[in-house]
Amino acid sequence: METRIFKLNEIDQAAQAIKDGQLVAFPTETVYGLGADATNEAAVKNVYLAKGRPSDNPLIVHVASIEMVERYAAEIPNSARQLMKVFWPGSLTIILKIKPGSLSKTVTGGLATVAFRYPDCQPTLDLILKAGVPIVGPSANTSGKPSPTTAQHVFHDLNGKIFGILDNGPTRVGVESTVLDLSTPQPAILRPGAVTKAQIESVIGSIDLDQHHVGTNETPKAPGMKYRHYAPKADMTLVEGDMDKVVAYINDQTKKAEAEGKKVGIICTEESRDLYPDGNLEVIGSREHEETVAHNLFAVLRDFDARKVDCIFSESFSKDQLGQAIMNRLCKAAGYHIINV
Ligand code: TXA
Ligand code: MG
Repeated sequence: METRIFKLNEIDQAAQAIKDGQLVAFPTETVYGLGADATNEAAVKNVYLAKGRPSDNPLIVHVASIEMVERYAAEIPNSARQLMKVFWPGSLTIILKIKPGSLSKTVTGGLATVAFRYPDCQPTLDLILKAGVPIVGPSANTSGKPSPTTAQHVFHDLNGKIFGILDNGPTRVGVESTVLDLSTPQPAILRPGAVTKAQIESVIGSIDLDQHHVGTNETPKAPGMKYRHYAPKADMTLVEGDMDKVVAYINDQTKKAEAEGKKVGIICTEESRDLYPDGNLEVIGSREHEETVAHNLFAVLRDFDARKVDCIFSESFSKDQLGQAIMNRLCKAAGYHIINV
């Protein structure tokens, strides 16, 4: 079966496929998701199979109304209501206690909580409303690979494994939603994303950021955090420090690697592109406009896969604001191989 591409005027057909229990990838403002009817156990199981995703890693439930959240959440605390008002539709995923028995264990990975997201993407809100059910949606990549920000990325990973893809062109934001746990007394960010800690704190006050590097034998709060993520095929090194030293280090290491016959990729910025030799350079965006870095991040990692480079050296970014999400993804892509110069 060749995976079908649905155009924006074919949302009815895509919704029918979801109702029929098929898998249809969908756009959001962050990355593409791999959609299935959240109330159809067999369809949800197929999401794990298509992605090669471990079954203890729960799925986000995408909704198109707060009423849909009320069907499955045990309660919606005030803090959640306030955040929904400010950030929904948008890139904030909120974890709440589940109404017992309302969604299958397959969706929640056996946890007593569910993650809800109301994406800022009208075609997908239409898809959910037309299907009449909430839609589960992990990022629509093969497990471990960079998340998909175009329909072509999804097609590359999942062609033949899923029924269709609703194509809305490249996603705007480029990194996944912020995952905020409101199921415990002290709210905590389990995954930094497009909505920043400071933005959330401006609404509900002080929150935690759970961002340590989860060990393989540890049980993290967001089960997904323990798995290898976003990894390009090449060995990747993230280089931190003063910019002139970073540039010198990357140039030096590139020469050494090339002398050993390796094909090197360099991730630089608009500001630094002229400081490296041409060749396998990828400009990830502009430091002045970090949203451009987030927007291009996963596509750059995938481009290096396509160019079959052996190693990648990347500049790093400050961990403020959106930089927190950017560095979280780059650190994981590099398997925490970080050099301080
Ligand atoms: O932007 C996004 O969030 C994208 C788009 C498609 O909406 N989705 C996405 O889903 O990134 P996924 O499955 O790739 O990442 C969801 C993360 C995982 O790390 C998962 O473990 C965590 O959220 N998660 C989901 N439900 C949870 C729960 N009930 N408790 C703790 N963590 C949860
Ligand atoms: Mg993912």
